[in-house]
Amino acid sequence: MGESPNVIGFRFLKTYTNYVLMGLEFAKHGTLLDLTKILKKTKKPLKDEQCSQIMKSILLGLKHIHRNNYVHRDLKPSNIVIADIKDFSKIKLVDFGLAVKY
Ligand SMILES: Nc1ncnc2c1ncn2[C@@H]1O[C@H](COP(=O)(O)OP(=O)(O)O)[C@@H](O)[C@H]1O
Ligand SMILES: [Mg+2]
Repeated sequence: MGESPNVIGFRFLKTYTNYVLMGLEFAKHGTLLDLTKILKKTKKPLKDEQCSQIMKSILLGLKHIHRNNYVHRDLKPSNIVIADIKDFSKIKLVDFGLAVKY
């Protein structure tokens, strides 16, 4: 699968006797679940444009996966990460543990 701004970047895979180490691009601003908790605490809702940018990023990420004939099967706020809190066009899908090829 090629890279997409809305799917976490794969960096390397290393196999050892008892485990496999997978290196991924790091999204330093946490998950969408973390963000919802912070917003609830601070009582500061997102702006409409921010919400639509988040939705657009998620859908573009899904479109990329589906174009490559994969289904994620575990889409939820804890599997959506934020690379840059000031730019929701960089929201990325993670956790392909349940994904399958069709
Ligand atoms: N690339 C990443 N950048 C930043 N945080 C990540 C990244 N991948 C995973 N995480 C964090 O680690 C948590 C667990 O990773 P995940 O791949 O969802 O595994 P699982 O849910 O199967 O334990 C995520 O909910 C998120 O908080
Ligand atoms: Mg997960």
